[in-house]
Amino acid sequence: MKRVAVFASGSGSNFQSIADAISSGRTPHLSLCGLIASKPGIQAMERAQLLDLPAVSIVKSDFSDDVEFGKALLEQVGDWDTDIIALAGFLVKLPPSFIAQFPGIIVNIHPSLLPKFGGYGFYGQKVHAAVLEAGETITGCTVHLVDEGYDTGKILAQKTLLIHPGETVVELAARVLKAEHELYPEVLERLARE
Ligand code: GRF
Repeated sequence: MKRVAVFASGSGSNFQSIADAISSGRTPHLSLCGLIASKPGIQAMERAQLLDLPAVSIVKSDFSDDVEFGKALLEQVGDWDTDIIALAGFLVKLPPSFIAQFPGIIVNIHPSLLPKFGGYGFYGQKVHAAVLEAGETITGCTVHLVDEGYDTGKILAQKTLLIHPGETVVELAARVLKAEHELYPEVLERLARE
């Protein structure tokens, strides 16, 4: 059984999808050990409370530098005996010193078919707006390992969707998010089995 810590900055619907997959028995090799939020008061923290899971906010600007921020993250995931770190809408860049401690076990989900529509500034609806603007016919989501770049780590899995004619950003965003909720628990389960 592998212990997953989720890092989030927003609504935490992916965090919820992992929790739901675990409670439904679909991911027998996973358990959740806690949530790290990049700021207090986000919806993901409320979800953690309802799930009765530990949740802490670790705010980058509270630390003098990246090294100190990294140490605080490291201490928390160490206390939870974490095996896998799953970024789910975590909008803060992780310190390189932190990433270096966990080779191959920090993953992220991104709402496009990377390497397309990834990188600095591609988050939230901006991604889907750019996809539609570019006239793409397919899109999807990607789970990848985290390295020091933005959305540049090794791709572990993707789920592809056909874009409907006339589809709006909001409609597309909702469909991609639903695909994320299916893909992320599956990939984490696969990682946990390895
Ligand atoms: C998701 O679209 C994810 O791909 C991206 O941020 C969003 C997080 O959504 N990295 P949520 O907080 O899990 O609802």
